[in-house]
Amino acid sequence: MARGSAAESGIDREDAVLAALADLAGLAPSPVLAARLRRAAPLVAACDARAAHHDEPAWAALLDAVTVQETRLYRHPPQADLVGNLLPATLGRARAEGRPLRMLSAGCATGEEAFTLAAQGMQAMAEAPGAGLDILGLDLCRPALRSAAAGVISPGLGDPLGLVPAALRPWLEGPDGTPRLHPALRRSLDFRRANLLHGFGEAAGFDVIFCRNVLIYLTDAARAQVTAALAAALRPGGILALGPTDRAPAGLTAQGDSVWIKPP
Ligand SMILES: C[S@@+](CC[C@H](N)C(=O)[O-])C[C@H]1O[C@@H](n2cnc3c(N)ncnc32)[C@H](O)[C@@H]1O
Repeated sequence: MARGSAAESGIDREDAVLAALADLAGLAPSPVLAARLRRAAPLVAACDARAAHHDEPAWAALLDAVTVQETRLYRHPPQADLVGNLLPATLGRARAEGRPLRMLSAGCATGEEAFTLAAQGMQAMAEAPGAGLDILGLDLCRPALRSAAAGVISPGLGDPLGLVPAALRPWLEGPDGTPRLHPALRRSLDFRRANLLHGFGEAAGFDVIFCRNVLIYLTDAARAQVTAALAAALRPGGILALGPTDRAPAGLTAQGDSVWIKPP
């Protein structure tokens, strides 16, 4: 076979895998994704496009390898401050309804966004006790979820606590000043493997949803589908926080800094 044909079949294979990843997880083809696929060539070789599903072992391993897990505590301070200021009213509603405050980190990676929400929820409850706290982190990447479930604050770049306000530090810092989750905070956290393309089913009914730095990796169709599912999974009066380039679905009220409220 001519060299050109062999190269073309490689390109066809890459196109087929990119198309399957767009179908099964909503991942948009991009130069970054293509480069990650080339680095994961042995995993790609094990994938059968006809069996493409996020639970199929070869595809699950490929998703572990090609998804981007960058995250950190209190990652975008102005937005986190804004949500922190909105939390007492949200907590008051949960308390009045006799139920826990429920928060979701959709696309949680190694958990730092969920850890931040847990610390903010604990802080709000310390100031006005009376409701429980349930925080759920969802992601497709299994190694990231294992780290999140173990309660490990990833070292990342620089000081992991560098952006965390002093008031939240007791929940995220050990007595020796190193990053660690307070035991009470760990009890409020749950991490599960889930595909955001498949909606939230019985888990829906959140008071707060964060989905930052996730939709940017998705195709237009997947982004619209996930955004609509996030809005549907919010309680009336609930808070939705997205990334700076994301658009909220119709019907939510903008608060600034990519934060929206679902009308009560
Ligand atoms: C860059 S991280 C964002 C972490 C965190 N939200 C933050 O802003 O710090 C993006 C995460 O989205 C996850 N992700 C991408 N597509 C997904 C899908 N269809 N279902 C579930 N998780 C997905 C990736 O595995 C990755 O961990």
